[in-house]
Amino acid sequence: MPIAEIETASSQPKRAVVLVAKSAFAAAPYRQMQRLADLAAALPGVGHASFSFTEQGTPSLREALVALRQAEFSDVLLLPLMLPIEPSFTAWLTKSLRRWQAEEGGAWPNVRIAQGLADSPLLPALMAELVVGADVAAPVPRLEKLAPEGSLVPAQKRRVLVCQGGPCNAAGADLIWGHLRNQQDRQKLRVTGDGTMTAKSTCLGPCNLAPVVQVFPEGTYYGGVTEAAIDLIVTEHLLSGVVVDEFAYQPTGRKQVLRPRPSSDGKSDQR
Ligand code: FES
Repeated sequence: MPIAEIETASSQPKRAVVLVAKSAFAAAPYRQMQRLADLAAALPGVGHASFSFTEQGTPSLREALVALRQAEFSDVLLLPLMLPIEPSFTAWLTKSLRRWQAEEGGAWPNVRIAQGLADSPLLPALMAELVVGADVAAPVPRLEKLAPEGSLVPAQKRRVLVCQGGPCNAAGADLIWGHLRNQQDRQKLRVTGDGTMTAKSTCLGPCNLAPVVQVFPEGTYYGGVTEAAIDLIVTEHLLSGVVVDEFAYQPTGRKQVLRPRPSSDGKSDQR
């Protein structure tokens, strides 16, 4: 359900469920997610159910939560649908939630995180059903000869690498990647300005500045990257060629730590 359509009738229970998936790129996965959200909405005690994505796809988890907050839900349950679920998922999600609450300010609903699918006692029965159902599926046809396919050499001059190494992952890099990809899509960054391509990367080096992003061709490092930082990097660096000093870190030859940044109440804030 689009964010704008959340009902706020005072008679509805103020409890919402948000299905959390990794990413979606086409209409069919969105239809799947909507069907699952409809199933969740029919469960007892659930006043509203929606879906969201931690990586590319809209709404992002942050957008879904902000919409529920604006609709004054008091209780939100996040239901992760990923398999396998990484051990640090709850930790980085909790950290990101706290950051969003600080950045958005105001009252927030109580947010709880449900266990992952892998821990459900119903999973063996579901797997058994899938295995039996696969017996009637036709085998994948074999191709005798694979015709070579051609590729275009990309014309884009800019590259953004989003670090997915351990420390960056623990700092919520998935969410930063998802926000960048959504902005790339919304602002058509591939064909705007110099053209921008984006990619995930292994460790980029300055792990203590997590989450880290590097922008080429300059090779500028950005640390402590948030969704707001991505918006600035897009507008100022990718589209205008101006480095965003507030989040940039230069190779000084000395060890660096994240600089405190002013929070919404004007005090310095080290996140
Ligand atoms: S893990 Fe991201 S910079 Fe090392």
